[in-house]
Amino acid sequence: SVDLRECVSVVIALDYATELTQECVQIVYLCMVENGHGLSVTSHPSRVLSRSGGNATLPCTIHRDQSLAPNRKMRIKWTKLTFDLLTEVDVLAAMDYHKRSYGSYHGRVHLCGSSPSDASLVIEDITLDDYGRYKCEVIDGLEDATVVVSLDLEGVVFPYSPRLGRYNFNFQDAERACREQDGVVASPQQLREAWRGGMDWCNAGWLSDGSVQYPITSPREPCGGQNTPAGVRTYGLRNKNMNHYDVFCFTSHYNGHFYFLPHVTKLTYDEAAAACRRDGARMATVGHMYAAWKLSGYDRCDAGWLADGSVRYPVARPRPRCSPTRPAVGFLGFPDKKHKLYGVYCFGPGR
Ligand SMILES: *[C@@H]1O[C@H](CO)[C@@H](O)[C@H](O)[C@H]1NC(C)=O
Repeated sequence: SVDLRECVSVVIALDYATELTQECVQIVYLCMVENGHGLSVTSHPSRVLSRSGGNATLPCTIHRDQSLAPNRKMRIKWTKLTFDLLTEVDVLAAMDYHKRSYGSYHGRVHLCGSSPSDASLVIEDITLDDYGRYKCEVIDGLEDATVVVSLDLEGVVFPYSPRLGRYNFNFQDAERACREQDGVVASPQQLREAWRGGMDWCNAGWLSDGSVQYPITSPREPCGGQNTPAGVRTYGLRNKNMNHYDVFCFTSHYNGHFYFLPHVTKLTYDEAAAACRRDGARMATVGHMYAAWKLSGYDRCDAGWLADGSVRYPVARPRPRCSPTRPAVGFLGFPDKKHKLYGVYCFGPGR
């Protein structure tokens, strides 16, 4: 019921929680109107891209009536929004020289403060958990203005299921599984981006908002039918305790060295673990392999053990006998750990 022309800024959010077949998404307009007399905040750009280990500046500019006393004290508050918009996580609060940062943000955030009208937030040493939407709120006496900025991370989405086979994770299991693979549960937006990039996966997986979805680029009979449109299919929000699915994890750049251990013969799982240790490293995780493959173009046609007991190989340049048609991480399942058939991928300190 708001005239969009009166918005100081408009944030367009796609509501993926609703039933969605590809292009049918609900668009939610978050409108920042000027309330009171002269106070407003804007953010350009309203989406910032960074990577894990990097820094980012979330822009927020204060506009206020110039006739007001120039050095009036304003309160600046940054919070992180959760998916349901019901709760907010405190990030930083500042009033004059009093500044406070909270929780995992402590010591990693500060205000840019290049001028009195600059309320931009700097986040350093970004982690996967920092991904999401942030609210900049400025309070001047009785006036209050807010704007929302998204922090996006460069990275890769990968499907994950355990040794037990498909559809074995409730939501908590899914969160733990992604952590163990050096990732976090992917968001609906991240899965959609991956689908746009060509991802096609026929098993449904948890996403961070508690929904269960799967991306299909080439519709076919076992995956919802041949005559259905391509898209990200959704089962909607599922019961986080009772329902069991796979999971889509998201990971970004890591600080370290991923490599296929050279000069080894075929190893059992235990021999592989020992070989990485002797090399001053440990066995790589699935997240390490996907990040190396997608973000650094790592290419190796040798099947190798990973820490979770699976055997995979990353092919960035498609060729016969590896991955003939497209770049992919090949998956040979979770073989018997005593099989002496594979090499090993290790992960060690950065070089
Ligand atoms: C992030 O900022 C800190 C402090 O200014 C700096 O020391 C560090 O090198 C920056 N990191 C990156 C990846 O730019």
